[in-house]
Amino acid sequence: MLSKSQAKAFFLFGTAVCSAAFIGLTIDTFQRIPGQTRQQNMNPEVIRGKHLFEKNNCMGCHTIFGEGAYYAPELTKVFERRGSVFIKAILKDPEAMYPGQKNG
Ligand code: HEC
Repeated sequence: MLSKSQAKAFFLFGTAVCSAAFIGLTIDTFQRIPGQTRQQNMNPEVIRGKHLFEKNNCMGCHTIFGEGAYYAPELTKVFERRGSVFIKAILKDPEAMYPGQKNG
């Protein structure tokens, strides 16, 4: 059984250790954020593409990085799969690519 002063010391020591761990992990997390956001790749073209993607509700049918709706093909690697000529054509006139079918 701990005496009152031992319990107090135990409490203070435990609080100090847990607070130090919490502060240390918080600092570590904040230091990792810039590397994980890939902020260096956010050029004006990418930002405009994201705005267009959101404004036109492409996510209503497509997924990107697994997020969105599962009605239409996943678009994360669509550039590698299809190339720019195909993508431009389907975005300009989807009906002409697949006549009679509903698509983006
Ligand atoms: C109403 C649902 C819908 C919306 C909204 C939509 N799409 Fe689509 N999209 C489709 C469907 C369905 C296909 C598949 C056509 C097929 O292969 O027959 C498709 C195909 C595509 C493809 C070709 C994918 C591949 O792998 O062949 C691209 C690229 C694409 N959409 C981009 C977009 C973009 C960018 C937007 C937003 C501007 C958008 N789509 C909005 C339904 C949609």
